[in-house]
Amino acid sequence: MIKIAPSILSADFANLQRDIEAISTADYVHVDVMDGLFVPNITIGIPVVKSIRPVTALPLDVHLMIDRPVRYVEQFCDAGADIVTCHVEADTEENTLAALEKIRARGKRAGVVVKPRTPASAVLPFIDRVDMILVMTVEPGFGGQKFMADMMPKVARIRSYIDALNPGCELEVDGGVDPVTARVCTASGANVLVAGSSVYKAPDIPARIRELRG
Ligand code: DX5
Ligand code: ZN
Repeated sequence: MIKIAPSILSADFANLQRDIEAISTADYVHVDVMDGLFVPNITIGIPVVKSIRPVTALPLDVHLMIDRPVRYVEQFCDAGADIVTCHVEADTEENTLAALEKIRARGKRAGVVVKPRTPASAVLPFIDRVDMILVMTVEPGFGGQKFMADMMPKVARIRSYIDALNPGCELEVDGGVDPVTARVCTASGANVLVAGSSVYKAPDIPARIRELRG
């Protein structure tokens, strides 16, 4: 089954509870954390995760676009994250493994993320320690960018790794996903679709979530 993870980066932060309730038919709430260092933008952090935890029953899918995430993963877990994903580019392999370990020790789901210029093979050192792999289909940092269709061979390659090595692992894509590009992603093997602007700009959000799910 295809899962939809609307990104609250495109929500109205002054009405975050309302905008999270508006996506209650989705599967996950995607939370984009940016530190102004790993990516050239700053968004939200631990106190916001803590505040939104009680307003939804959906799992919180926390995408950490921060430098050396091992420093903070436990705090995000304790704030209420259910899935925590770390960029492989954000630290050494050893520290990324330590971050995944810390997330799982908290009983949460752990994942790794790859930026557009990072090859599929970069996930291999982590593949048996993750519950999710996220492939960026835009450069991380901002919502509303154009979908990079040239990431699809990488999605397909990682799908083949997952099927061979860790079939329970989810494969998520993030960036520029709309009802048209969603089909391209699922055809390449993704099963979780993050969508920010295409969900929050839709006149009928539940209808858009259904449309994305296909
Ligand atoms: C980008 C974020 C995305 C972003 C997606 O760095 O990781 O989750 O919110 O936004 P759209 O769907 O508008 O491309
Ligand atoms: Zn994201």
